[in-house]
Amino acid sequence: MNAGRLIAFEGLDGSGKSTQLERLAARLRAAGCDVVTTCEPTRFPSGQRIREMARSGQALAPEEELRWFVEDRRVHVAEVIAPALRAGQVVLTDRYYLSTVAYQGARGLDYEQILADSEAEFPIPDLVLLLEIDPQIAFARVHARGSEIEGVFERRDFLSRVASVFDALDCTYLERIPGDGEPSQIEAIIAERISLRLGLG
Ligand code: TYD
Repeated sequence: MNAGRLIAFEGLDGSGKSTQLERLAARLRAAGCDVVTTCEPTRFPSGQRIREMARSGQALAPEEELRWFVEDRRVHVAEVIAPALRAGQVVLTDRYYLSTVAYQGARGLDYEQILADSEAEFPIPDLVLLLEIDPQIAFARVHARGSEIEGVFERRDFLSRVASVFDALDCTYLERIPGDGEPSQIEAIIAERISLRLGLG
C-alpha cells in the first residue's frame, strides 16, 4: 500500500539525530529523492502542549504522558506521514514510536506492550537509525545547550534508563549507529546503511 519509504531517527537527547537527519535529507535530495522531513513531538497543537509540559518541569503521570505522545502521533501519521507515503515520498522523521517505547518505558510502563501496540496501530518504518551514545555524554551535551531545555525527559538517571530500553530492543528494522564519532563519519555510515538496506542514495 505504501509507495514511499519511512525512515526514523532515534536516540537520546543530544545524540545528534537532528544534524544527521538534515545531512541525510540533503544527500537523498541530491540523489533525486523526493524527501519530506518531520519530527515528534509535532508542530501541531498536540505536540506543542507536550513541549510546554516538558519545559515546565511538571511531570504528568506516565499513563497520561503515554496518551499525549500517542495522540500526537495519530495526528502526525494522519496529517503528514501517511499522505507522504501514499505520494511515494521518502519520509525522514526525528523520533517516532521507538521514542515512546524507550522514554515512557523508562517511566515505568511496559515497553514491550507499547511496542506491540505501536506496531499494530502505526505504519512500521522501513528503517530506524538509532544513534547510540553514552548517556553521560548525552546529558552533558543537553546541559551545555542551555538551561531551560533540561526538562523532565533529560535528567541524567532518566537518560540512562532510556538507554537501557533502547539497548534491549530487537526489531528487524532497527539499525544501530555509533553516534560518538565525527559528524561526517557518522553521515557516511548512515549513507552506507541506507544504500544497503533500502537501495536509496
Ligand atoms: P526532542 O526530540 O528532544 O524535541 P526538541 O529537541 O525538538 O525539543 O523531544 C522532546 C522530548 O520528548 C525528548 O526528551 C524525548 C521525549 N519524547 C518522549 O518521551 N516520548 C515520545 O514518544 C517522543 C516522540 C519524545
